[in-house]
Amino acid sequence: MLVNHRFSYRLLFFLLVLSFETAQRLVSGDPNDEACLTNLRQSLEDPANNLRNWTKTFFSNPCSGFTSSLHGVTCNNGRIYKLSLTDLSLRGSISPYLSNCTNLQSLDLSSNQISGEIPPQLQYLVNLAVLNLSANRLSGEISPQLALCAYLNVIDLHGNQLTGQIPPQLGTLARLSTFDVSDNKLSGQIPANLAMRNGNLPRFNASSFSGNKKLFGYPLEEMKNKGLSIMAIVGIGLGSGIASLVISFTGVCIWLKITEKKMEEEEGKISHSMPDY
Ligand SMILES: *[C@@H]1O[C@H](CO)[C@@H](O)[C@H](O)[C@H]1NC(C)=O
Ligand SMILES: *[C@@H]1O[C@H](CO)[C@@H](O)[C@H](O)[C@H]1NC(C)=O
Ligand SMILES: *[C@@H]1O[C@H](CO)[C@@H](O)[C@H](O)[C@H]1NC(C)=O
Ligand SMILES: *[C@@H]1O[C@H](CO)[C@@H](O)[C@H](O)[C@H]1NC(C)=O
Repeated sequence: MLVNHRFSYRLLFFLLVLSFETAQRLVSGDPNDEACLTNLRQSLEDPANNLRNWTKTFFSNPCSGFTSSLHGVTCNNGRIYKLSLTDLSLRGSISPYLSNCTNLQSLDLSSNQISGEIPPQLQYLVNLAVLNLSANRLSGEISPQLALCAYLNVIDLHGNQLTGQIPPQLGTLARLSTFDVSDNKLSGQIPANLAMRNGNLPRFNASSFSGNKKLFGYPLEEMKNKGLSIMAIVGIGLGSGIASLVISFTGVCIWLKITEKKMEEEEGKISHSMPDY
């Protein structure tokens, strides 16, 4: 009897703890997501006050069920899976603690004025499929560790101030179907495994790489070709100059001949009309 009682007390206690934890999970959200939002809000500046409802009360439970009332946050199963804060005049930087949103599949902070570097910690977002940080003021290098996000489909970093080389590791991303690093300050050779990908993997043309002065290699035009085309322009300029000189010279000659003939004819007429004395 005593043993049985003890057992049922333990069971009751266990059930109580379990229900308390479940209840707490319903009331407060995931602590990782909370850390993610709290730190991201701190690192971003919001002069236009577009994130006015990004407040602490909401951070504690950003996903009440399947939806979120927080601007730009989308949830699935109580976890944040999409963050979309585009064209909100945001400044500041991207917090490395963004990596605490461990279920994140899509991160779109495009068309703002966010500066600083792309935190290498994004590598911990192992579910990330879409990364759009285009049209900002991001600087520094693209971390090779980004290739650890094996599900990446979209990398759009165009229109920033990124420097350094394009990490060849990105070429190993099997699912990558959109890649755009145009209009940055990248340099060096375009990794062959991005430009000429194996098998059926989508290839990226010059529009993915253009607008980086010090970037070279296929599929961009070779530097030599650029040199040649400048020479060609000079050549065409010189050639057409000489041609027009020749043409105008011959024109002048012909004109002179014609006038000479006319003069002669005129002289002839005059001599004809002159009476013979
Ligand atoms: C937060 O802001 C967004 C858009 O500005 C709005 O759709 C949402 O309803 C707001 N949420 C709350 C709880 O006020
Ligand atoms: C949150 O992110 C920071 C920075 O990447 C990391 O040091 C920390 O371990 C993360 N915390 C959790 C709970 O994942
Ligand atoms: C990234 O965001 C920009 C601006 O919001 C948009 O024009 C572009 O299409 C997006 N990139 C991709 C690959 O969806
Ligand atoms: C380059 O690729 C993009 C899509 O990846 C396509 O929309 C565009 O037409 C291509 N440009 C050229 C010149 O082939």
